[in-house]
Formats: sequence, structure tokens, C-alpha cells
Amino acid sequence: MSAPGASSASSSLNAPDVARTLDRLHRRARGDILNIALVAPLVVPDFFGFRKVDDVRLSHRMRKSFLPVSREQGHLLYLVARSIDARRIVEFGTSFGISTIYIAAAVKDNGGGVVVGSELDASKHAKANEHLRQAGLDAFADVRLGDALHTFADVEAPVDMVLLDGWKDGYLPILKLLTPKLRPRAVVLADNIFTFKKALRPYVEYMQSPKNGFVSTTLNISDGFEMSVFTG
Ligand SMILES: C[S@@+](CC[C@H](N)C(=O)[O-])C[C@H]1O[C@@H](n2cnc3c(N)ncnc32)[C@H](O)[C@@H]1O
Repeated sequence: MSAPGASSASSSLNAPDVARTLDRLHRRARGDILNIALVAPLVVPDFFGFRKVDDVRLSHRMRKSFLPVSREQGHLLYLVARSIDARRIVEFGTSFGISTIYIAAAVKDNGGGVVVGSELDASKHAKANEHLRQAGLDAFADVRLGDALHTFADVEAPVDMVLLDGWKDGYLPILKLLTPKLRPRAVVLADNIFTFKKALRPYVEYMQSPKNGFVSTTLNISDGFEMSVFTG
């Protein structure tokens, strides 16, 4: 099933293995509401910008929740990656690999490269790799297990595109870690700007300040995507 407005010409998103895997994972992700309800007391503080548990424990508690980008966001990620010919994309927060599949498909269609992903929870990390294999895209992804602040330390330059979708207090430190590796006009997309408005305000202010080397705007799509272009 395609997102509204998505055309099918020469896109790996329409390859049967990719489309089938995405359909199945998006369908399963609908069960997230129940999973999240069970851990709600742990995640509610995130909405207000403070947290009761550390990242590793939160990831473990959320190990059954997909928390994925929407189909529309997935198609936007694919299109942005295609339009800038992205060959190295870094993803903070891989979960079960839904977003990874969209951007790995773009890397493949661009002629090859890698999505460097990151996941704190070992069971999710294993599942993400399995889903990438099922989609036939595992050759285009290197999902690293552990805290992205450590696993991204040796990411090679140039980085063409970044997706920020891990726990919200990580957005700014990860962005700052990766900034020296960004190529001119690299694109950074950050999810959940509306959902975690307070927690992500420092991130949005940083990206929209003219001092920090980005031009940036919040896109009204799904939970809010901050889209930024590196000009620094
Ligand atoms: C919102 S989900 C990601 C959803 C995924 N991008 C998708 O669209 O399918 C966030 C994930 O980031 C992981 N995460 C959070 N903080 C992390 C960190 N510091 N390093 C690596 N992974 C992290 C969590 O375990 C969780 O699975």
C-alpha cells in the first residue's frame, strides 16, 4: 500500500519484499497504543522535559513498542534522501527498523551506501536486522547496538543526512557529535517535535537560530518533523 500521493516509478519501496515488510510492520505497530499504555507512567515525564528513568531502562521498558515514523514521514525520508543523493545516512533510534527500511531503500536506489543506525535495546536491534533482511536491504544498513553517543563516535564523513528519533534528550548531543561530519547542505530531520514540545524546545531553538549553521523549519507532518539544512 502506498502513502497518498506516492508514485511507484523506479522506487525500491515498491519492491515486493520491501512493500510486504513495511505493510506488516506498520500493521503490527498499531498495537503500540496498548504497549505504551502499559508503560505510560514511565514516559509521561518525557512530555514535560524531565525523566524518571535512564535511557537504557526506558528502552528496555519500551522494547515491545515500535514508535515508528508514519508512512507519510517514511515517504518524505525516502524522497529527501533521493533528492540529495544521500549515500551515508545516520539514524539515531532504529527500534524495529521501519524508518531504516525507508532510508535504506533510498540509499540503494541512489546507487549504494549505508544507513548507520543505532539501538539501545538488544532485542529490538536483532529484530531490526531481521526486518532489514526480510526487506532485502541488509546490505545497506549497519545498525549499531548501544548508546548512539558512543556507537556514532567513529562514523565516517561525509554524512549526507541524519534522522533523529531516539529519546529526546539525545537529539542535541547527537547532532553536535555529528555536525563536524556533515557535508554542506546535509539534511537533518528530527521527529516528534509536537509530541515532545517542551523537551525538544532547546533543539528547535538551536536549529532555528542563525548562529548555529542550519536553516530550519518545523513541518506539520505526523508528530512534527523539524527539517534542517546544514549551511555552516
Ligand atoms: C521512537 S523509537 C525509533 C523508531 C524508528 N525510528 C522507526 O521509525 O521505526 C526510539 C528508539 O530509539 C532507541 N534509543 C533511544 N535512545 C537511544 C540511544 N541513546 N542510543 C541508541 N538507541 C536509542 C530506543 O530504544 C527506541 O527503540
